[in-house]
Amino acid sequence: MKIGFTYDLRREYTALGFSDEETAEFDSDVTINAIEGALQGLGHDVLRIGNIYELTRQLAAGNRWDMVFNISEGLYGAARESQVPALLDAYRIPYTFSDPLTLAVSLDKAVAKKLVQHAGVPTPEFFVIQSLDDIRHEKRVRKNIFPLFVKPLTEGTGKGISAESIVWDLAAFTKQCGNLLGRFGQPVLAESYLPGREFTVGITGTGEHAECIGVMEITLNKEAEPAVYSYLNKEFYEERVVYSLIEDKDIISEASDIALRAYRILGCRDAGRVDLKADPQGKLSFLEINPLAGLHPVRSDLSILCGKTGVPYTALISRIVESALERVRGVLEPVDA
Ligand SMILES: Nc1ncnc2c1ncn2[C@@H]1O[C@H](COP(=O)(O)OP(=O)(O)OP(=O)(O)O)[C@@H](O)[C@H]1O
Ligand SMILES: [Mg+2]
Repeated sequence: MKIGFTYDLRREYTALGFSDEETAEFDSDVTINAIEGALQGLGHDVLRIGNIYELTRQLAAGNRWDMVFNISEGLYGAARESQVPALLDAYRIPYTFSDPLTLAVSLDKAVAKKLVQHAGVPTPEFFVIQSLDDIRHEKRVRKNIFPLFVKPLTEGTGKGISAESIVWDLAAFTKQCGNLLGRFGQPVLAESYLPGREFTVGITGTGEHAECIGVMEITLNKEAEPAVYSYLNKEFYEERVVYSLIEDKDIISEASDIALRAYRILGCRDAGRVDLKADPQGKLSFLEINPLAGLHPVRSDLSILCGKTGVPYTALISRIVESALERVRGVLEPVDA
């Protein structure tokens, strides 16, 4: 198959002057080479496209592909992950992973939480702060709601998340909201702090065919910033984080049930990762979903999880392509050489 490949290569953006933080979600040459190598190993002809600007140029020039392997995160706006898939939909070119609607609702953590909560999936109570004025007017900001966890509404990769994300009183809450509003120029999500164990669940497939690859616990050791799987803990995970595959059947059942329900409710496709945390009684809740989970062959949580369950990287990429192909089988037109 002739597979186009859309992605945001981090070094291209840093060369243009974008900061490390602005480009934190973008991919390295290691990831791009690994995906390309896996696709070639599966017998596909891979044509690198790159970011949305290059895709636009190539579409205008008349280039077409049987399918696009899309991991583009986008740069601007709360629907930035939806932009490449929306363009591909307009040209009726099939692509891997979720559609524009799913990517947009999943990126906005409050919208995703409302949708899963509506369907009965447990998730911490929350509210959104648009400006510091909201804190004065927000009736739910009372003494007894603390501790709260605060984070940017539409970010990933631990951006804006540190030990300061856990706030124990109004002064710390106001300070941290002010920091995040100024630094990220977007609303802040405030939710109940869950102090229990943390898990991430890997999923491949779509709809009824979606299945859980495994449940992995994230434990922080003493070199880590305490209590939070933060930006810095993710960055220096080799020294700070311990990843363990869960064998306990009860935890697997509770975690995979929440994760698969959230994945299906939000309409995720092909593969993704769902983050869960426990309350003091050990009951699990949905924190967030990653329909474009990182695919660095060594560093990304999904790859680490696959490694522990005996799913080789090429097999993961193969499952993603096969899942995408199930959608288009029968309607895929051969492309002229
Ligand atoms: N309500 C909460 N209570 C306790 N800890 C939380 C809560 N929300 C988030 N965290 C901690 O912060 C971390 C990052 O939060 P979250 O997964 O929402 O951010 P992210 O940047 O989108 O992550 P990813 O890197 O998976 O994209 C979680 O893995 C968890 O350790
Ligand atoms: Mg997360």
